Amino acid sequence: MFRTTVMQKAIVAVTGLVMVLFLIAHLSGNLLVFAGPAAINSYAVGLRDVAALLWTVRIVLLGSLVLHVYFTIRLRRLSYQARPVSYRQQQYAASTFASRTMLLTGLLIFSYVAFHLAHFTWGKIYPQYYAATYFLDGRGPVHDVYSMVVRSFQVWWIALLYIVAVTFVALHLVHATQSALQTLGIYHRRYTEPIRKASIVLAVLLWIGYVSIPVAAMAHLLEPLS
Ligand code: HEM
Repeated sequence: MFRTTVMQKAIVAVTGLVMVLFLIAHLSGNLLVFAGPAAINSYAVGLRDVAALLWTVRIVLLGSLVLHVYFTIRLRRLSYQARPVSYRQQQYAASTFASRTMLLTGLLIFSYVAFHLAHFTWGKIYPQYYAATYFLDGRGPVHDVYSMVVRSFQVWWIALLYIVAVTFVALHLVHATQSALQTLGIYHRRYTEPIRKASIVLAVLLWIGYVSIPVAAMAHLLEPLS
């Protein structure tokens, strides 16, 4: 029982860290929006050109997400079965707001990702923005990711939804990264505090990076081409 629980926790940790790496890479790509339409559109085309790599990343991500959610729910069930009668008084001494809301923020992020895929990957929300094309030098007409993103974020409720969702992502990460590293044995009294701080700094940096895009579009610092 103990061994399987340790194994399941390790799976949650590793899959979580895989998704954190994706978030860092995804943000680096998204920030190209500030370098202009040619930069982000040729990046998007470049990704599609390496289809094998793109599909490998997609499969690894989807697998990580499924395993992460499945084992988190299983572990919750196990801990509930071990103590079906809850504490009369909750003791929050060693926990933080971020750690207590992991399941909630995780479920909200899951719903957001479904919306996000329908929005930018499948073009089901504001399809007219998704249909925009851009003439890329040496390539011809390509999908205009730049205008799609900027026009979408000039719709106030979409911008707001992304800002709120990214705030949940950051809140989830404040606790997630340090907890995952601890589960994987990267734990020593001397390193606990630096790891905790690094985890918070990473969450804040990702939050600033992701939020900067809808904010810049709403403030008209970024303008669509058409
Ligand atoms: C300002 C915030 C964001 C912007 C502008 C953005 C932009 C995009 C765009 C343009 C795509 C479509 C790529 C394509 O099909 O060519 C995409 C896909 C995706 N995004 Fe985001 N994104 C943001 C935040 C996030 C966040 C916070 C997450 C995760 C929690 C996320 C997860 C994904 C995933 C899983 C895909 C699908 C990747 C694939 O097609 O394989 N994104 N994003």
